[in-house]
Amino acid sequence: MHAIGVDIGGTKIAAGVVDDEGRILASVRRETDADDVAGIDAAVADAVNELAADHEVGAVGLAAAGFVSPDRTAVNFAPNIAWREYPLAEKVGALVRADVPIVVENDANAAGWAEFRYGAGREATDMLMLTVGTGLGGAVVVGGNLVRGKWGAAAEVGHMRVVPGGHYCGCGHEGCWEQYASGSALVRDGQASVVAQPARAARLLELAGGVPGDLQGPQITEAAQGGDALAIELLANLGRWIGEGSASVAALLDPEVIVIGGGVGAAGDLLLRPARAAFAEQLSALGHRPEARIELAEHGNEAGIVGAADLARQ
Ligand code: BGC
Ligand code: NA
Ligand code: ZN
Repeated sequence: MHAIGVDIGGTKIAAGVVDDEGRILASVRRETDADDVAGIDAAVADAVNELAADHEVGAVGLAAAGFVSPDRTAVNFAPNIAWREYPLAEKVGALVRADVPIVVENDANAAGWAEFRYGAGREATDMLMLTVGTGLGGAVVVGGNLVRGKWGAAAEVGHMRVVPGGHYCGCGHEGCWEQYASGSALVRDGQASVVAQPARAARLLELAGGVPGDLQGPQITEAAQGGDALAIELLANLGRWIGEGSASVAALLDPEVIVIGGGVGAAGDLLLRPARAAFAEQLSALGHRPEARIELAEHGNEAGIVGAADLARQ
């Protein structure tokens, strides 16, 4: 059965028709505004209606960047989108023309499920997935099962405290891992370093069109790939936070593979090498235990679409 998966983030949505082997047959994108929840409903429904007009689908899965209710219908809270006790499936369902079941999943759980079934985790039984984007999402697979917790909010690893008194987080606390290991953190630190270290930031400033506040993540990756020392340092710092935090998660879960998804994956080894080094450095019992592999997601930014569709049709 084909299904539609929709990945709903703070700034954009991406939707696709997915077949039984996890392949995307058609896709569409829409821009969104994280403060306008009704606008998100409309954009999601519009994308679903467009895809469903040309494809027969049996289910729709919505991957949402927040805490999803255990019955998979609502988003109870989101740090970076204005959803609060929001009946997302019902709201979108009212605007969708096709008569199909709509299932809501946490976005990182959806991405992790796609990597576990069809991607970098397919040989594993125990996996941690981290989605590094606007926020830091987590998915945990233990013994072949996606761990949801009692109330659907398991694997919210982005909100583990890593720095007491650290940066404020959209969840209302301070020092969350997401404030150090996300695309938003990379951009925040990148913009700050352009202002603080102008002599080293010529290339970054040029890519940002001369305006420090316009610097974006992909430009940092581009500069780093071209050998820019400051950009390489920014990515290494992000990698270090990813690796160190992963070692703490390993203390709890002992995964076999840690899969890194999200746009920053484009940085490849510039991110992975420091992440692996920091992971090993911080892992307890190093040398006396097998070490988890840290790998890039194979479905890149499309994992959320694929996983949401797959979980919806089950
Ligand atoms: C949210 C998660 C989400 C992640 C990635 C975090 O801020 O709490 O629910 O999975 O961002 O979007
Ligand atoms: Na999750
Ligand atoms: Zn937080």
